[in-house]
Amino acid sequence: MITLNVNIDHVATIRQARGVSEPDPAAAAILAELAGATGIVCHLREDRRHINDRDLILLREVTQTKLDLEMAAVDEIIDIAIATKPDLVTIVPEKREELTTEGGLDVKNNFNRMKALCSKMHDNGIEVSFFIEPSGEQIEYSINAGADMVELHTGTYANLADEFQKSAELYRILLAATSAAELSLKVAAGHGLNYFNTQAVCVSGSIDELSIGHAIISRSVFVGIDRAVRDMIELIRDAELLIER
Ligand code: PXP
Repeated sequence: MITLNVNIDHVATIRQARGVSEPDPAAAAILAELAGATGIVCHLREDRRHINDRDLILLREVTQTKLDLEMAAVDEIIDIAIATKPDLVTIVPEKREELTTEGGLDVKNNFNRMKALCSKMHDNGIEVSFFIEPSGEQIEYSINAGADMVELHTGTYANLADEFQKSAELYRILLAATSAAELSLKVAAGHGLNYFNTQAVCVSGSIDELSIGHAIISRSVFVGIDRAVRDMIELIRDAELLIER
């Protein structure tokens, strides 16, 4: 069964637009879980543009399922992760000027640092996922570095307009998911997934989890978080039923 982890960063983005105390991402996390989310994801960025240190502490308190902290591999945030103990950290490349995470992590060229990070997190009981491009080489380096999981970057697939290029990118994701699963890695996928493009990603049969934020929080402005999360879970279930036939 493919499970859904809901990224609640953009609840904090709305709060930060006014610099006030609402809406609270911790409340969103509780509602998302009640609607069936099996994990809560937040990204503590170095510039604290949305989620802040207080949010992370509260999210750790209220999350009953699994807390996934997206983070850059920098000392300050590593220390915060170890102090807060999310269930999982997803390591992402982070640039200050970007609107959202751009591109996957280059595990190959940062291999020693990533290996050391995995062992530090494991010593503290925290699992590690690397957010990578759907590439066999990055998967291999992720395993060798000690990752428990990889999250395959679906942003390119989501943004391509040309149908042929989109199909080719989807095929790359499905191949990568299958090979990561064969190598006993847990496999997640995320970035840019929405109510129209998620089902196609579900059909490889090798993806364990999806990490979705913007589309769900956007829909929840109109229909509420409960309905927005349930709608996405229903789509995922329908896709799974299709491949079970
Ligand atoms: N996965 C990772 C690693 C991300 O950085 C993000 C964006 O925060 C997401 C998933 C969710 O992307 P989106 O908000 O486009 O659903």
